[in-house]
Amino acid sequence: MEHREYVEAVERLKKERGAVVLAHNYQLQEVQEVADFVGDSLELARLSSRVEADVIVFAGVYFMAETAKILNPGKRVLIPEIEARCPMADMVNAATVRKWREKYPDAGFVAYVNTNADVKAEVDIICTSANAVKVVNSLPQTRIVFLPDRNLAHWVSLNTHKEIIPYPGYCHVHMDFSPEAVKALKRKHPDAEVLVHPEARPEVVEMADRVLSTSGMLNYVKESPSRKFIVVTEEGLLEMMRKLYPHKEIISPGTPGICEDMKRISLKSVYLSLKDMKYEVEVPEEVALRAKRAIEKMLEIT
Ligand code: 13P
Ligand code: SF4
Repeated sequence: MEHREYVEAVERLKKERGAVVLAHNYQLQEVQEVADFVGDSLELARLSSRVEADVIVFAGVYFMAETAKILNPGKRVLIPEIEARCPMADMVNAATVRKWREKYPDAGFVAYVNTNADVKAEVDIICTSANAVKVVNSLPQTRIVFLPDRNLAHWVSLNTHKEIIPYPGYCHVHMDFSPEAVKALKRKHPDAEVLVHPEARPEVVEMADRVLSTSGMLNYVKESPSRKFIVVTEEGLLEMMRKLYPHKEIISPGTPGICEDMKRISLKSVYLSLKDMKYEVEVPEEVALRAKRAIEKMLEIT
């Protein structure tokens, strides 16, 4: 089948199945093209709590589809590629959180949305890159265990009076952006604004004019009068910016960072997902109920 035929088939199947397609900002342009909504983790979580369709096809990594399922236990949630997982989310599990709870009995526990459901079920509240500081400040405890991303934890620690105890996880895509490369680019383009995702290394975050979530960066490029930006995050977002704002110059941070897991999903796999109703995301009820409480707490305060 040709590109246009896939697009038409997806649109037809969406109607037949009563389905919506939600896609993360890092998804391939061919996937974003057939999505009903494209956004960052917070926007997608918010939206999936309000979706009316019977079926949600989630073009993103597994924890994102799982979050949609937790918020919509009565709906069918599909992920087009079952192997699309976030390696950082897989760096921590529920047993480890329970051990840390014993070690830090007086601490509040905050999990980044990039975690699996079993971990979400063990913590007090969830956050995303867009609301991490606000979430941490909302807790009554003065010590906060923040997991799994140590770089986001560091960024939060610079913006709160609370003591942050980081878990040593990380995103390999954002870790690969080198401070030397960003420094050299800044020297070469002194008129560019530097936008950095908080999953990047602290030395890179230090060089940022703005530290933002993926949708935060998109909105910033749209609103800012500047014409040049060094954008330190996954390449999919840079492509989206170049398409939406062709009159602005979007500079990659040295080597383009590609999240192979996000890129597993293609237009064809979205089509096959809708055609064969695969791969269905399931979360055990007992885990889902506890995880839902932590996610809803976040949605209430943001
Ligand atoms: P955002 O919530 O900023 O979209 O980030 C999600 C993510 O996985 C970044 O690597
Ligand atoms: Fe996970 Fe990093 Fe990929 Fe985001 S970019 S989904 S944090 S591996």
